[in-house]
Amino acid sequence: MSVMIILKTPQEIAVIERASRVVALAIAFLREQVKPGVTTADLDRLAEEFITREGAIPAFKGYRGYPATLCTSVNEEVVHGIPSSRRRLEEGDIIGIDVGAIVEGFYGDAAVTLPVGRVSEEAARLLRVTEAALDAGLAQVRAGNRLSDISHAVQTVAEDAGYSVVTDFVGHGIGRNLHEDPQVPNFGKPGEGPRLKEGLVLAIEPMVNIGGHEVEVLSDRWTVVTRDKSLSAHFEHTIAITPDGPKVLTRAA
Ligand code: MF3
Ligand code: CO
Repeated sequence: MSVMIILKTPQEIAVIERASRVVALAIAFLREQVKPGVTTADLDRLAEEFITREGAIPAFKGYRGYPATLCTSVNEEVVHGIPSSRRRLEEGDIIGIDVGAIVEGFYGDAAVTLPVGRVSEEAARLLRVTEAALDAGLAQVRAGNRLSDISHAVQTVAEDAGYSVVTDFVGHGIGRNLHEDPQVPNFGKPGEGPRLKEGLVLAIEPMVNIGGHEVEVLSDRWTVVTRDKSLSAHFEHTIAITPDGPKVLTRAA
């Protein structure tokens, strides 16, 4: 199948920005709620209330049968952890929180990984490096660069720190669909793939493991975990190339 990238008008990007702003505000709100004793189901309920109150629709609930508003991925869980009233956060955990919202038919998508109370220096370093890998990828988003320049920048930061990037899951184009072309791998040689241009909107989302890159999906058919049970982190932003240049849409202003 050939790659079918749907470029967006400035008006369409403005709507994606509204969806993305709800996502950014939800993440800012959830940051304050993450603490020992809270369950991932508690976070999910708060997120659904927040997004709905903002006039948006939770993007993940019902997507391919996914049952919740958030993906909450704790410790060795990489992505797509399902919120549960049986999963109570403990001091020293790390939790990935992935949020999507729909406004007027357009999607915004972002994720952070947060420490629960005080965490080990090893865990804190994983969070710093994974966010730096995302920032390095975002910095490559400009007209004239190629898609794999993003991938290469992400991989370089993660591997220079001694970590592995997950290869089984990738970032994506985003717009009227949560997942559009192009796929955005978190690895690869620079200078390959489509040229980036005005109207492109991407969700860039490095998943970085302290141990090996291999992952597996649990019997709940969603939760992705590291095969070696090493800690994993995930950060994601939605970014557009606007007429005024690249703009991260999911950063709370
Ligand atoms: N941010 C994730 C992604 O882009 C969220 C998908 S979870 C799902 O793939 F439940 F909606 F699939
Ligand atoms: Co995504």
